[in-house]
Amino acid sequence: MQDRFGFQVQATDGKARTGAISTPRGEIRTPAFMPVGTAGTVKAMLPESVRATGADILLGNTYHLMLRPTAERIDRLGGLHTFMNWERPILTDSGGFQVMSLADLRKLDEEGVTFRSHINGSKHRLTPERSMEIQRLLGSDIVMCFDECPALPADDARVAEAMRLSMRWAARSREAFGDRPGHALFGIQQGGVTEELRAESAEALCAIGFDGYAIGGLAVGEGQEAMFGVLDYAPDMLPEDKPRYLMGVGKPDDIVGAVKRGVDMMDCVLPSRSGRTGQAWTRRGQVNIKNARHQDDPRPLDEECGCPACRSYSRAYLHHVFRAGEMISGMLLTWHNLHYYQELMAEMRGAIAEGRFAAWEAGFHAARAEGDI
Ligand code: GUN
Ligand code: ZN
Repeated sequence: MQDRFGFQVQATDGKARTGAISTPRGEIRTPAFMPVGTAGTVKAMLPESVRATGADILLGNTYHLMLRPTAERIDRLGGLHTFMNWERPILTDSGGFQVMSLADLRKLDEEGVTFRSHINGSKHRLTPERSMEIQRLLGSDIVMCFDECPALPADDARVAEAMRLSMRWAARSREAFGDRPGHALFGIQQGGVTEELRAESAEALCAIGFDGYAIGGLAVGEGQEAMFGVLDYAPDMLPEDKPRYLMGVGKPDDIVGAVKRGVDMMDCVLPSRSGRTGQAWTRRGQVNIKNARHQDDPRPLDEECGCPACRSYSRAYLHHVFRAGEMISGMLLTWHNLHYYQELMAEMRGAIAEGRFAAWEAGFHAARAEGDI
């Protein structure tokens, strides 16, 4: 087992890359999709089931875990991996983004952010130093810098101000993280949809030096066209020999477009969250299992899928358990969605390795255009 953090690009096809991140807790094949386990669980899934879908790494959240059950308690209980029974790599987000979207009465200053818990109203403070401490107590393998992502709509001056604050916080995050062999610290590029601000941010991060570089501040309502516009240049501003992580993305076609533009890692609640609301993602596009057209359909969700939901259950059954509010509904659809996402990543890794990504991508879009039949 590798005792240090590392990244090797094994093949490229256009701007798309495939390779592997090595960590003491195992290898992460890239491009990688990271299921979201916000509160110490990928909702409706056992960890061994998440692994069976093909996931190499999970994402956890500083914000949720610091509030409940607290980082100190998780540390006393042996760290997040032991606590949640996932011994493979975990990446943790730093908290700032979730404070802005979830917490009450937020107050931002140069040092950090003070807020009230969305759970019980209790008062808390996060700074770059405290975020690094919490992520260390959790035992996170890939730690994210503490940053600020401005809420939309935001004008250029506000985006620039948030980016520059995030760069000062990135330097403090780097300093507080220190030297921790086997653990990685990723910087987060900000700058909205403005190329000059993205360039300034990338330059600031590269001068500090990180083990990997995230592209933040996207998928916040700007739309796919604007996001791809940024991804046409943003990955090229980041070091070629380090992993590039697009935060909070996305739908299957967002993920394919990001990989095509040079992104190595992604995370999103979409496959797990939409599984619990009756939405399935398949190679033929989105299927709403709530729809009455499924109630007499003996076929599986996707004839070509090898997941437990598709191997052993009909659309009629999946429709019935969703309508009846049965827990197995969220379990089966989440399993299917995560399986589909991981299959997509595996197919892209194979296509890039064999230099046929463009043909693979054409097939991906063609199957979706046919629609669910
Ligand atoms: N998740 C999605 N976008 C972001 C971002 O810009 N920053 C952080 N920390 N997390 C995110
Ligand atoms: Zn399936």
